[in-house]
Amino acid sequence: METSQHELLVIGAGPGGYVAALRAAQRGLDVACVEREPALGGTCLRVGCIPSKALLSSSALYERVSGGLGEHGIAATGVSLDLAAMMRRKDEAVKLLTDGIAQLFKRRGVTRYEGTARFLAPGRVAVSGAGGEHEISAKHVIIATGGRTAALPGIEPDGELVCTSTEALSWPKVPGELIVIGAGAIGLELGTVWRRLGAKVTVLEVLKRILPGMDAEIAREAQRLLKRQGIVFKLGVSVEGVRAERGRALVQLAGGDQLAADRVLLAAGRVPCTDGLGLEALGIETDAGDRIPVDERYRCAAEYTYAIGDVITGPMLAHRAEEEGIACVEMIAGGEAGVDHDLIPGVVYTEPEVAGVGRTEEALTEAGIPHRKGVFHFRANSRARAAGHIDGRVKVLAHAETDELLGVHAVGPQVSELIAEAAVALSRGMTSAELGAVCHAHPTLAEALKEAALALHGRAIHA
Ligand code: NAI
Repeated sequence: METSQHELLVIGAGPGGYVAALRAAQRGLDVACVEREPALGGTCLRVGCIPSKALLSSSALYERVSGGLGEHGIAATGVSLDLAAMMRRKDEAVKLLTDGIAQLFKRRGVTRYEGTARFLAPGRVAVSGAGGEHEISAKHVIIATGGRTAALPGIEPDGELVCTSTEALSWPKVPGELIVIGAGAIGLELGTVWRRLGAKVTVLEVLKRILPGMDAEIAREAQRLLKRQGIVFKLGVSVEGVRAERGRALVQLAGGDQLAADRVLLAAGRVPCTDGLGLEALGIETDAGDRIPVDERYRCAAEYTYAIGDVITGPMLAHRAEEEGIACVEMIAGGEAGVDHDLIPGVVYTEPEVAGVGRTEEALTEAGIPHRKGVFHFRANSRARAAGHIDGRVKVLAHAETDELLGVHAVGPQVSELIAEAAVALSRGMTSAELGAVCHAHPTLAEALKEAALALHGRAIHA
């Protein structure tokens, strides 16, 4: 078998892996990255964050132009949907970005191997691809193989009637009726895309709330707003199975109820991709959730072997994997780094958007941490009013005694951008009074964050 040698090998070219490889090259390491897909970028770029955001942007425009502009004094007639063109634009955005990473690899000197990696021993990996099998030995190996859709008992995705997010990003026709299983980020974002394009969307969720993990008050408000747009929510229902009947999907709920739809989207979570990696050759045992146990330096049970992103414990988010990729490489290169899992922002790109960073109100109450909250509604924010996007609110949580910021949660226009300021404030250990004292440009949506911080002290000007 042909053999090559590198200082560092990264397995997987998703946001965790490709960023780690690029950072390693900046650090002067001889680095290689193995990826089984022809396109780099992983789930996020190929079949996740980026194509979904492309479709969210296009579908939002379609909905607005098809009747959402009356209050602006704009009447549009003859609006029609060319779904194939919409998909082409999405595919082009994906191609430009994934090609961009290939170019960055070339320019920075990252060696790329196409194929599926399997450990033979610590520091020895076999890659099997179209050209046969190849062996790579490396002093350090980072496992960044990401995740995939979690299966549910009784539900077998066939890519036609029962689909995962991958297929739901490329359906050639708008389904008449769509059932989404799971009210997490994927279910709500893709449910929103297809509702805007004309599908009747029902979201089934086993819990009594949507968006578990996000602040409950904010999630309730998001649910109210999404329901007003036409999404039907059935909470506290458990799906027992799905079967095909006369070309339609029949969804069986516990308790006997049945629902029929043209398509079912399975979005009930994701699981790490750790099988088939040959971890047994390293003596690594995964935990009950199939994740790889690591220490605070991302080291696994085997020497010079590390794991980052979706394959280890923590929120399964692209930006968290990126930060871990960088931190892991810094430590391999002899530096110090770390990622604070409490300060990873979460965003759901519905309209309005939902975002949060830091602890939720429930988590603080549960932990017995004395806290106070300040809330500001976008309807009192002049920029939101001028734009006609007045739904939602910002909530700032701070320690009751020290006033240190503990969490910021929001639902509203472009809160995906606003949450970055909150993350900076939290990571710098600012107090809510300090955040409220920062001059914000007027009129901006970000003033809602300042006002929420001031509201915590009963000082919001426009409340
Ligand atoms: P999720 O874990 O966020 O949500 C899945 C939902 O399905 C949960 O509410 C869960 O209670 C529900 N569920 C589980 N079993 C069920 C059942 N049998 N019947 C009905 N409901 C059931 O997972 P999701 O949305 O699939 O996303 C996977 C990962 O990808 C998450 O970690 C998510 O944060 C991440 N992601 C992030 C995005 C973003 O940042 N905008 C976008 C897409 C995904």
